Amino acid sequence: MKIAVAGTGYVGLVTGVALANAGHHVTCVDVDEHKIQLMKQGISPIYEPDLEPLMQKNKERLSYTTDYASAYQDAQAIFVGVGTPEKKDGSANLKYVYTVIDQIAQTLDTDCVVVIKSTVPIGTNDKIEKRLTQQITARRSKLGLSPIRVEIASNPEFLSQGTAVKDTLHASRIVIGVESDWARDRMKEVYQEFHQPFVFTDRRSAEMVKYASNDFLALKISYINEIANLCELLDANIEDVAKGMGLDPRIGNRFLKAGIGYGGSCFPKDTKALHWVSNYYEKELKTVKAAIEVNDIQKMKLLKKSHKYYDSLEGLKVAVLGLTFKPDTDDLREAPSLINIPIMLDDGARIFAWDPIGIPNFKKYYPDEITYCSSIEETLKDADICFIFTEWAQIRDFDILRYKELMTHPIILDGRNCYPSHNFKNTGIIYDSVGRRT
Ligand code: UGA
Repeated sequence: MKIAVAGTGYVGLVTGVALANAGHHVTCVDVDEHKIQLMKQGISPIYEPDLEPLMQKNKERLSYTTDYASAYQDAQAIFVGVGTPEKKDGSANLKYVYTVIDQIAQTLDTDCVVVIKSTVPIGTNDKIEKRLTQQITARRSKLGLSPIRVEIASNPEFLSQGTAVKDTLHASRIVIGVESDWARDRMKEVYQEFHQPFVFTDRRSAEMVKYASNDFLALKISYINEIANLCELLDANIEDVAKGMGLDPRIGNRFLKAGIGYGGSCFPKDTKALHWVSNYYEKELKTVKAAIEVNDIQKMKLLKKSHKYYDSLEGLKVAVLGLTFKPDTDDLREAPSLINIPIMLDDGARIFAWDPIGIPNFKKYYPDEITYCSSIEETLKDADICFIFTEWAQIRDFDILRYKELMTHPIILDGRNCYPSHNFKNTGIIYDSVGRRT
């Protein structure tokens, strides 16, 4: 099939490449000429393992352009994967989605299913279809052209950054919300080479699956974080507790990792968006509200703990390991580091930070206030305290005795439980992690 994909972020680009890998001819559209030039050279504009080799492998079937008209005009399916960022009030900002829809309306010339991958509030796809078909009908009748059939399908994505390619090629399920057999058949054709479980629903249910899934996972994390906080007070071990819980298949062992809270571009945004809409309908989702509140408090946990060891961070050399919201991404959105570091700077701390790929993005916020280091050793040298915000493999593999050798005061506040706590016994290192004995 001839397919166009609008937006080349995590969702759009990975979807486009996966569809090309399934044999379709895919044109990826973006407004950013620089990104397009990079992709034309086989370079991915986002950091995502396995993506570039897949782009190379399918280069015969992939093209990249800023010229949306040429891409949309004769596409049999157009995937929309542009961002829906959070507005100040917590609701989703749909301006990028509507811009693409209007461009499709101006240019489409053939029967097409427009597939919304972007996370949009429940009911949005109905509105999108109305807006799109009205504009297309008006334009075609004005030009004396015959009508075309255009329908919207909701096809939420469940990929995680860092494992986006694997999550797409081996998705746990493909959820498709359509309102007609025609759209259903076309979507089956799009996905005929994919052999995952399919869930066909109406459009609104598909939209809801996305929010309900992300918010449930956020809730699961906030729940385990609260249990971890209680474990600290009661001298229990959260990892043993999570293991004991997770073996129950009704609970499952994933997303039970306690830490300093969830970040990223999805959970914080999607919890707030669903909470906002529930408030709007005066049916507040209290569980989701609790997940958000717990997460906000959790993100401050290490700073609070630091007061056990120092009244203030003023003048101290503070080592920060990990800046990104999770490993294997350079994304800083809603990362705990971005909340904690400004407070440390206000306190007068001298911050030395290391991250294998997040530094260039962090420099956009703090170009001069922080000393960026090129190794863990350099970061720890003569430090008075160390904060771990991201569980990078390099940190997990780091010899713990080196903390003692390098730091002036070997105090580690680990927000991601990178090491077994018993390894620190008799080392003279203070190791304070989440939900475990110090
Ligand atoms: C998340 C979902 O996992 C995807 O299924 C979804 O498609 C995506 O959002 C989206 O809506 O686009 P992502 O934000 O990339 O994916 O990252 P996750 O791996 O889910 O991690 C999110 C945050 O939760 C990270 O800060 C991570 O450190 C934290 N987390 C995760 C925990 O604190 N504990 C856990 O057990 C798992």
